[in-house]
Amino acid sequence: MPFKRKDLLGIRDLEVHEMEHILEVAFSLKEINTRPIKKVPTLRGKTVVHLFYEPSTRTRTSFDIAAKRLSADTFSITASSSSIVKGETALDTLKNLEAMNPDIFIIRHSASGTAQRLAQRTTASVINAGDGMHEHPSQALLDMMTIKERRGRLDGLTILIVGDITHSRVARSNIWGLTRMGARVIACGPPTLIPPNLEEMGAAVSLHLHEVIPEADVIMMLRLQTERQQQMLLPSLREYSVYYGLDGRKLEKARKDVLIMHPGPINRGVEISPEVADGPHSLILDQVANGVAVRMALLYLLGQR
Ligand code: CP
Repeated sequence: MPFKRKDLLGIRDLEVHEMEHILEVAFSLKEINTRPIKKVPTLRGKTVVHLFYEPSTRTRTSFDIAAKRLSADTFSITASSSSIVKGETALDTLKNLEAMNPDIFIIRHSASGTAQRLAQRTTASVINAGDGMHEHPSQALLDMMTIKERRGRLDGLTILIVGDITHSRVARSNIWGLTRMGARVIACGPPTLIPPNLEEMGAAVSLHLHEVIPEADVIMMLRLQTERQQQMLLPSLREYSVYYGLDGRKLEKARKDVLIMHPGPINRGVEISPEVADGPHSLILDQVANGVAVRMALLYLLGQR
C-alpha cells in the first residue's frame, strides 16, 4: 500500500501497515549504502532543508547522507549560524526558506509540537527530527529495523527501556511503535523519571532494573536528559548509575542472546559502562547504520508526492 502522508510527525499517528511499509523500504534501500558508488537518482531535483534548533550528530548527518545518496540537494540551517540568533521566529524562518521552494523540511526543536505547528503552515513535507520531550519518530523506526534485522520480528519480544523516560522523546516514540507492532515494553527507571501515563500508552513499569533484566530480549538504555530537567530529580549520578546503569555485572543476569541498544549520545559510565557499550551484545553502531537506511526510506516515500 503506498505511503500517502505529506509529513512524518510522530509514530503515534502511524498505522501498523505504514510502519511495516517504511521498514520494508528501508531494508531494500540499505544495500545502496554498501555499493562502491553509494548514489541513486531517485530524488534528483528535490531539495531537502535541515532546520535544527538543537544539537545533533547522528540524526542530522544521517538525514543529510540519506538525502545525498538519493541525489537530493540539501542545505542545513542551525540556530547558532543563522538569523535565528537575531530573533527570527521559527515560522518566519520556515516561510522564508519555503520561498526558495524546498520539497522536504527536517525539523528538530526543543519545544514539543513545533514540527506539527510548522507542517500546518507549509506545503512542503515536514519530518520531525525530535521535538522536545514529545517524539523522535525516525529514531524509533531505526530501532525497530535494528531489532527486526537481528530477531526477524518485533511481535512477542520483551523490550526493556531504561532510564530517563520522562524527558525522552525516543522512549515515547518507541513505546507507541513497539507496542503497536506486538512487542511487550517495560519502562524502568527511578520514580522521578517515570511519567504517569505509561500504562495508558501500553507499557508496563518497573522501578527495579535487577528484577526485569532477565525477562528482556532487548535492553534499550537512555541518556539522562539533564538539559530538559527543571529540578534535581536524582540524589547523585553515582547513585543513579549503581541502580539503573548497565554494566557487566548486571548483564550477567540477562539472557545469553540479549541485545543492547542506545540511541546516543552515550554518557559512558553513567547509564552504560564501556564494556557493555562496546561489547558483543551491543547494537549501538548498527542503529546508526540503519539510521541512514530508515531516513532514505522516509525521504523516498515523502519525495514521491
Ligand atoms: N539519537 C539522536 O537523536 O542522536 P543525535 O542527537 O546526535 O541526533
